[in-house]
Amino acid sequence: MTNRQLFFQYLGLTSKEPLALEIEYSKGIYLFDKNKKAYIDLLSGFSVNNIGHQNNEVITAIKEQAQKYTHLTVYGEYIQSPQVKYAEFLLSLLPNSLNSIYFVNSGSEAVEGAMKLAKRFTGRNEFIAFKNAYHGSTQGALSLMNNESFTQAFRPLLPGIKFINFNDLSQIEDITHQTAAVIIEVIQAEGGIISAEKEYLKILRNKCNETGALLIVDEIQTGFARTGKLFAFQHYDIIPDIITIAKSMGAGMPIGALIANKTMLNAFTNNPVLGHITTFGGHPVSAAAALAGLKFIIKNNLVNESERKAEIFKEKLKLCDKIKSIRGKGLFLSCELNDNEQVNNFIKQGLLNGFITDNFLFDKKRFRIAPPLTITEEEINLTTDLILKTLNEIE
Ligand SMILES: Cc1ncc(COP(=O)(O)O)c(C=O)c1O
Repeated sequence: MTNRQLFFQYLGLTSKEPLALEIEYSKGIYLFDKNKKAYIDLLSGFSVNNIGHQNNEVITAIKEQAQKYTHLTVYGEYIQSPQVKYAEFLLSLLPNSLNSIYFVNSGSEAVEGAMKLAKRFTGRNEFIAFKNAYHGSTQGALSLMNNESFTQAFRPLLPGIKFINFNDLSQIEDITHQTAAVIIEVIQAEGGIISAEKEYLKILRNKCNETGALLIVDEIQTGFARTGKLFAFQHYDIIPDIITIAKSMGAGMPIGALIANKTMLNAFTNNPVLGHITTFGGHPVSAAAALAGLKFIIKNNLVNESERKAEIFKEKLKLCDKIKSIRGKGLFLSCELNDNEQVNNFIKQGLLNGFITDNFLFDKKRFRIAPPLTITEEEINLTTDLILKTLNEIE
């Protein structure tokens, strides 16, 4: 059987029409299929490959760590060099109050951990989440999604979750002394890339302080220089109580974490002991990749590059009247077309023309521009030419 036949025969699939591209290797901003056709990656694996595919420094770090040890024991028992070195470096780049990290495997697990920590620390059990937010697909994280078509089949989910409108001050009063935490993406990713307003976040932060609710910022898509700051909350004058990270954290390897104040995170050590247990959380090979990836971001100033390169995209693409609007921060952009059908045609034609993009879970009228932040100016010119050519070719 061919790999394609094996894929459809044996794998559990999540949609009737998966893209089913058969990629043989990847490098930089490119994926190459088995016929050696190159595709420019405008998705970065949904905000994972911020430093590009097959980064040499990351590959070296992976090899070196794999030769020393891979898995030793459950997270939190042994002192593992890649974890502690990563913790020291990342936390040095964050505000002083965010000074402790708990390693997990994925974004969803980071959100689960953050919700458990908020319940344990505050002694409360209600949450405020936002319409059009996505925080993951495990049952706690899925409970934070207000879109019935995705959640209905899995009810009952967690009780005590209230959904409010993003950027709507009139609903801030829903945060009360019963609220354990408010969880927010300060730039909503799957909503089609919608940025919070500065004043709104300031008032939200104050309301959390007033009521004793924790503020959890989900940086799983927006983290690691994607939006033109190391983390998206740094565009705003707020400091979260907890941040969740994953995706680009591992520079292509699976890892996630929640970050909070040491006093708060210590709540996992008693009543009950082992407040969150994870076998593979902070896997040493992933942590080594994460450390090499973060060093690469800082050394190559990708934080500032993200914004500068986004400006080049915007300048070029605004010439096309089929694009009704461009929204976003840094290389985290969404382009609005007429309707869902036009976006679908664009995505299909884009594949033929050699680039990969997609729409959003909750906004089907927009497509993404979120390439690796290492994309060069020459590659941006080539990409924008291809986008404009593709827009010309579709209805
Ligand atoms: C903002 C956000 N939070 C959480 C998650 C869940 O992460 P994971 O798929 O690693 O569980 C995602 C994944 O797309 C996400 O975009």
